[in-house]
Amino acid sequence: MSDPYQDNRGNKDASITNPHGRGTMSAGTASGERSRTQDAYLIGDSMTGGYGQGPDILHDCTIAVNKGEIAVIVGPNGAGKSTGMKAVFGMLNLRKGAVRLDGEDITALSPQDRVVKGMGFVPQTSNIFTSMTVEENLEMGAFIRRDDFRKTIEQVYELFPILGDKRRQAAGELSGGQRQQVAVGRALMTQPKVLMLDEPTAGVSPIVMDELFDRIIEVSRTGIPILMVEQNARQALEIADKGYVLVQGRNAHTGTGKELLADDEVRRSFLGG
Ligand SMILES: Nc1ncnc2c1ncn2[C@@H]1O[C@H](COP(=O)(O)OP(=O)(O)OP(=O)(O)O)[C@@H](O)[C@H]1O
Ligand SMILES: [Mg+2]
Repeated sequence: MSDPYQDNRGNKDASITNPHGRGTMSAGTASGERSRTQDAYLIGDSMTGGYGQGPDILHDCTIAVNKGEIAVIVGPNGAGKSTGMKAVFGMLNLRKGAVRLDGEDITALSPQDRVVKGMGFVPQTSNIFTSMTVEENLEMGAFIRRDDFRKTIEQVYELFPILGDKRRQAAGELSGGQRQQVAVGRALMTQPKVLMLDEPTAGVSPIVMDELFDRIIEVSRTGIPILMVEQNARQALEIADKGYVLVQGRNAHTGTGKELLADDEVRRSFLGG
């Protein structure tokens, strides 16, 4: 492993790594890359808007993820990362811009209808039912399904074995990292076509963070594109095919994870040098 970034996520399965993810910074801003973003599998395109009648939080903000990719959003506290995710999920009225999923304009759809379309979302807070058992949380996650979802529950237990062990325990009794696994597992219960995670490693130790990242990479290898917000910018960009640095509701830097890690300005301002 002479070059840890040679293969962006240590991923040996070339079929799901992003062959376009190794360009230079200038290639990243070329029109070819822009049109690729425009055609992304999931895109919040040039989003402007805020909460209720309040001021705009997002200003012409674009975040997107392509098939086979992990896209990561980083930036300072209050930059609008969660707001951007909520906007993509339909929890915010946009004044301008659009959200498209697989080419379809879904800007007018409710969050629930977006779930039906294939979006899975794990919000930053209140992402599990603490008084319910682990298994009940997963069952709740399957709320839109009318078919037999037992097999999906077993798949979640395969991905997160600790959840199988604790299936009858109240989710509120689990550790922070285990709760995050419940939250991700719950979102997987709808068999989403794309998964959105807002700070999946918040409040967990570095070791648990690495484990969660490994599980997230595993999910992405099953073919589910992942759009996630991360506070641990450096580690997240290491596994990112695409990275977005947001500042004050705007796109400040965009590139492959590798490009952003190598960018002096990004390093100085957001990665601690
Ligand atoms: N429900 C809300 N109603 C009104 N304003 C809100 C709401 N949630 C967030 N904001 C405001 O939107 C701005 C962006 O917040 P947001 O939560 O999107 O930031 P963030 O980048 O996710 O920050 P963090 O890293 O702390 O999670 C902040 O100024 C915040 O006060
Ligand atoms: Mg946030």
